[in-house]
Amino acid sequence: MKELLQVLTPGERDWRIASSLDPKRLPAHIAIIMDGNGRWARQRNYPRIMGHKAGVDPVRTVVETCAQLGLEALTLYAFSVENWKRPRHEIEGLWRLLRFYLRRELPNLMRNDIQLVAIGRLESLPAQVQTELQSVMNKTAQNRGMRLNLAINYGGRTELVDAVNAMLDNARLEGNLDALEITQEGIAEHLYTAGLKDPDLLIRTSGEMRISNFLLWQIAYAELYVTDTLWPDFTRTELLEAISNYQQRERRFGGLTRSAVLEPAAIVLEQEQLEAPLAG
Ligand code: IPE
Ligand code: IPE
Ligand code: MG
Repeated sequence: MKELLQVLTPGERDWRIASSLDPKRLPAHIAIIMDGNGRWARQRNYPRIMGHKAGVDPVRTVVETCAQLGLEALTLYAFSVENWKRPRHEIEGLWRLLRFYLRRELPNLMRNDIQLVAIGRLESLPAQVQTELQSVMNKTAQNRGMRLNLAINYGGRTELVDAVNAMLDNARLEGNLDALEITQEGIAEHLYTAGLKDPDLLIRTSGEMRISNFLLWQIAYAELYVTDTLWPDFTRTELLEAISNYQQRERRFGGLTRSAVLEPAAIVLEQEQLEAPLAG
């Protein structure tokens, strides 16, 4: 948080929003569905790939700002297991952009002490993409600041299938398949996000009110923030506004607010009270 305030100019808009945030209640983990690149391009009569190209800079801004805020983790949805349905030229363009991003951003990741981890079924990606991802993962593996998960060929359901299969494989290897117990902790430990807190805040750009197979397990109690802004237009200001909005939410996790717990007239209903009609 301090780091972000140091790079902002006192009095300007982002500085004002950032300084109004409560540093003790920042989300530990933010997840973002970066959507709307195609529509951004269409609005300008550009080919779709230009929208994806325009989406690279907001990635840099968001990654840098989250690191400066001191978040533990940021998870970005870059390519879903369903995105293979798109035309081949668009998909190939996306791999080119990803490689460009990795090469350009490595120095920034190092400077900001960010560890990059690609999550998803990486084995199905083109060999060159796998090699470059692996290289950036290795180079940033010792960084201890923020963890940046890039979800690539990612699906929430395939992640759960992979987790369960990993549990089965381990149990088989250890020869205790019969004794294998499935627990929530066990599943969480075998997800790609093992060891990380669940996202506190899930942002989706471009106004779509759906999850699109993203982090199905981990977002059980995430606060949702959907904005009509298309991803290429997403700014640091809007990220800070989303966090400010998050801080105004009341997270109950199925429990009650303090005032409701302290309700003075709490009673246990007796049989005749159960049967009596409600007054009014
Ligand atoms: C999100 O933008 C990026 C990826 C899915 C790779 P879209 O390409 O889905 O953009 P729209 O939804 O068509 O506008
Ligand atoms: C979700 O966006 C995937 C990514 C942002 C990478 P999509 O554009 O693929 O989602 P749908 O098809 O609108 O649900
Ligand atoms: Mg889309």
